[in-house]
Amino acid sequence: IPMKLVVLVGSVRQGSYNAAIARALHQLVPAGVTVEILPSVAGLPIYDADLQAAGFPEAVTRMADAIRAADGLVIVTPEYNYSVPGGLKNAIDWLSRLSPQPLAGKPILIQSASMGVFGGARAQYHLRQILVFLNGMVMNTPEAMVGAAHTKVDANGQLSDPLTRDFLAKQLQHFHTYVRRISAGARIDG
Ligand code: FNR
Repeated sequence: IPMKLVVLVGSVRQGSYNAAIARALHQLVPAGVTVEILPSVAGLPIYDADLQAAGFPEAVTRMADAIRAADGLVIVTPEYNYSVPGGLKNAIDWLSRLSPQPLAGKPILIQSASMGVFGGARAQYHLRQILVFLNGMVMNTPEAMVGAAHTKVDANGQLSDPLTRDFLAKQLQHFHTYVRRISAGARIDG
């Protein structure tokens, strides 16, 4: 059964280690899974209820449509000051105002990378908390936090570390099973 995943990246910089992981995912997923990276969160204005009242920005509705059409969402993000980067939070804030709300019931996988030893663990737990309110179906384990990310991405921006690649591939196998279980349940529930 084919499966489609879309990827939201929490960093907007050119040389982002998290973006390097996002670009590697299509090589790491099980057979039959396609991966598409969503447009940068930098394309969204800062959330403003007045803007919303005038009509959702097209970049928001396009992002929401892509998430709705996908079987699962992968969020790959750095940690900024022990939390989620503002740009990612802003994207989630916009998405949360749509109806139907595109993250509700959606299988979600979180990955993070940082240059420190914890690999963005603290941001992951803030992100999980945000997604509780939005009813995202975030996979619990295995978790993937990539520490010392600058030693695992090469000069060409490729995720080169074999252990990290193996570990992420294993996590994606679990997510593949998780997505199938949730979508099977959704069919049964109608
Ligand atoms: C950071 N960085 C960082 N790292 C970390 O492990 N914990 C943290 O709380 C923070 N805080 C933080 C705040 C801000 C404003 C910046 C710019 C950076 C370092 C961060 O992990 C590093 O810059 C990564 O390279 C960012 O990810 P990308 O852009 O490479 O994907």
